[in-house]
Amino acid sequence: MESKQNHGSPKLFHTITFGCQMNLNDSERLAGQLRTIGYEITENMEQADIILINTCCVRESAEKKIYGKIGELKRLKLVNPNLIIGVVGCMAQKDKDKILKKFPHVNLVMGTHNTHQLVELIAKLEESREPVLAVWDQAERLAPDVPTVRKGKISAWVPIMYGCNNFCTYCIVPYVRGRERSRPLEHIINEIQQLGQDGFREITLLGQNVNSYGKDSEEQVDFADLLRAADQVDTIARIRYMTSHPRDMNDKVIETIKTSKRICEHFHLPVQAGSDAILEGMNRGYTTLYYRQLVAKIRQAVPGASLTTDLIVGFPGETEDQFQETLDFLKTVRYDAAYTFIYSQRSGTPAARYPDQVPLPTKKARLNQLMTVQNEISLAINEQLVGKSMEVLVEGPSKNDDNTLMGRTRTNKIVLWPKKGQEQAGDLVHIQIDTAQTWVLKGRLI
Ligand code: SAH
Ligand code: SF4
Ligand code: F3S
Repeated sequence: MESKQNHGSPKLFHTITFGCQMNLNDSERLAGQLRTIGYEITENMEQADIILINTCCVRESAEKKIYGKIGELKRLKLVNPNLIIGVVGCMAQKDKDKILKKFPHVNLVMGTHNTHQLVELIAKLEESREPVLAVWDQAERLAPDVPTVRKGKISAWVPIMYGCNNFCTYCIVPYVRGRERSRPLEHIINEIQQLGQDGFREITLLGQNVNSYGKDSEEQVDFADLLRAADQVDTIARIRYMTSHPRDMNDKVIETIKTSKRICEHFHLPVQAGSDAILEGMNRGYTTLYYRQLVAKIRQAVPGASLTTDLIVGFPGETEDQFQETLDFLKTVRYDAAYTFIYSQRSGTPAARYPDQVPLPTKKARLNQLMTVQNEISLAINEQLVGKSMEVLVEGPSKNDDNTLMGRTRTNKIVLWPKKGQEQAGDLVHIQIDTAQTWVLKGRLI
């Protein structure tokens, strides 16, 4: 069946992505598959023959937004009855039946273990317009690699493992992404080499818990081995990774980063809370003492490294005192930046059934306090960089102004400067920092 709107011209698709980097990369792999059957990307939803919403369900706020978005698309379906609307990813995995029941204008619901099947599912839909539900409960094995159409030209995501075995008590991810599956080392390195040949300068290795890389493989490899192998790809300038679980960050990994050339001096170690009782309730598998010692070790091994974290406020049972412990923890560890979240009850997870759920106004007040404390620290740390020259990878023009360029330091700080002339996306330049803000540094090219 051919769409009457685009008769003769290529068929078009549009993706809307919510959630983490893993999801952004999944969308690139959805795009890669659609291109093999002649579909081209459009930024204009109104023109699309296929719209895929790649969903997240890590917090209720994300879900609400997505349900709203799916509802809105009904309008386009009325204009173009041939439009294929697909809901894919984590929320599709969790709410498969509900989505089809609630939204008759949705044609396809595809779960996280089925993303590689997109081509055959679209073929099925083009043949008959019966709704298609493709949601396996679990991944049978490692899904085959599929082509990728990347959004960026400088920085690329490379998944190294799928799923999570940690079952933090608040978290839905292990239920919607399944058990840990590592990609073979050779596939990953080949992909990185190809990216280097294609002109990419930076890669980010992706996994829910990258330190677990290889534990499920027949190969005798671990995350440090992978890092070392990736560091050999000399066409790439910078290597990043996320997310590393503090419990599994070991000496071998730290040593590898320390002695590497390309792995950036940035550690993202989500602590989630600064109270031992809460950490235990969360099933995080470490204490604040262990975490502090880990940070000390990293700071000694890699001086000048930046440190960022994720924090949740209002975990069930969190008392005012325990929240204060988290504030004190922040003040003493001193993170460069923190991503802060209000605890969101996810049904099916253990913490959702804990008594003493914290009331929303309390959670909101705690989030505000936490952000105030952290913003001060971020600013103070950034102010120490004023007057310094920093190596920046040019990403391109800033969001609001074509004459201002944006890039990042190895420590993952955003830097803005007025365009001088020659500097281009992908170049490594040196920027003299003149002013510091909470989230950005500003300077000039030297
Ligand atoms: N695998 C990564 C990221 C998981 S999701 C990790 O372990 O760090 C990203 C962040 O979302 C988590 O670090 C956590 O801070 C937050 N998060 C996860 N579940 C949440 C929930 N139910 N409510 C609020 N925040 C949550
Ligand atoms: Fe969720 Fe914990 Fe797994 Fe991260 S490590 S995805 S927070 S269960
Ligand atoms: Fe969301 Fe799924 Fe990522 S729930 S955070 S998109 S793994």
